[in-house]
Amino acid sequence: MEALVIYDSFFGNTERIAQSIGNALGQLEDVGILRVVDVKPEQLAGLKLLIVGSPTRAFSPSPSIKKFIKSIPKNGLKGVKVAAFDTRVTDEEIDSAVIILRIFVNIFGYAAKPISDRLVKKGGELIAPPEGFFVQGMEGPLKEGELERASEWAKQILAKQ
Ligand SMILES: Cc1cc2nc3c(=O)[nH]c(=O)nc-3n(C[C@H](O)[C@H](O)[C@H](O)COP(=O)(O)O)c2cc1C
Repeated sequence: MEALVIYDSFFGNTERIAQSIGNALGQLEDVGILRVVDVKPEQLAGLKLLIVGSPTRAFSPSPSIKKFIKSIPKNGLKGVKVAAFDTRVTDEEIDSAVIILRIFVNIFGYAAKPISDRLVKKGGELIAPPEGFFVQGMEGPLKEGELERASEWAKQILAKQ
């Protein structure tokens, strides 16, 4: 496979973003969009581009995404371009909750950055800054325009290939 979009999703929002990203990469020869629990280690062989996305859960990537990245051998992403995204709640949602949440978000952030850092630690070459896409409320649906923004983000990555 030339490119893989690997994602986790509880309510379907991150899955929809992953599909939008995968579809926008359609110009590449062979693009897979896989739920993280379905990924087999051999599917990473020969990969040129790996994009990993997770819902933000307690300021972090989901346990399955963390486990997947941990399972990649040392330097396992050498020669692979990598990027990461997450889904997350809106600033309005955070600011309407208890004030401590805003403080925690400011300290601990969201899932995309730690995913991105871990992919680079495994030898990947970062091709785009980590990106977040917004859901409405805690469970979605996606905020209007986010699927289109995801598609644009992927096209920027495509242009750097
Ligand atoms: C248990 C739980 C913890 C969450 N923690 C955060 C968080 O720390 N930061 C955030 O922005 N959103 C948080 N959210 C909202 C999720 O990011 C949101 O449910 C997710 O983007 C939906 O994606 P999915 O449909 O792919 O699961 C949390 C949601 C749940 C249910």
